[in-house]
Amino acid sequence: MKSGSAQNRALLKAAKAAMKKAHAPYSKFRVGAAFVTTKGEVFSGCNVENASYGLSNCAERTAIFTAVAKLGGKMRIKAIAVTNDQGVPCSPCGACRQVIYEFGPDATVYFMNKKNEWEQVSITELLPEGFRLS
Ligand code: THU
Repeated sequence: MKSGSAQNRALLKAAKAAMKKAHAPYSKFRVGAAFVTTKGEVFSGCNVENASYGLSNCAERTAIFTAVAKLGGKMRIKAIAVTNDQGVPCSPCGACRQVIYEFGPDATVYFMNKKNEWEQVSITELLPEGFRLS
């Protein structure tokens, strides 16, 4: 995300705000994600863990499912940013990559790399040959 466009700065700000709401008492790894739709609307989400660990939901999917609940499944992700409170590399997990791909086959993904810099990659770089039913 280098110095960043106004849109990227807004995404990062929204992701950090969402991160503060994370429910992560088990991993203590708080994550925030925010994305902008192709029509310019911004949505954000945090990870929501559960005492039954496998039920935990990642920040990216929280944000995306929130958007679908409001706009329906035809909304498309233009760009998504992911941040965490530990300053460690955090690219979207495999499950989230597939969900990002469903709603943003041309999406750009921003996440922190090992050098603690923002990395910009396309979802198809992160998930080549994403699954589609049609
Ligand atoms: N997590 C996310 O929210 N997004 C990611 O991209 C990676 C992992 C969450 C899931 C779990 O609550 C915590 O981080 C530790 O795995």
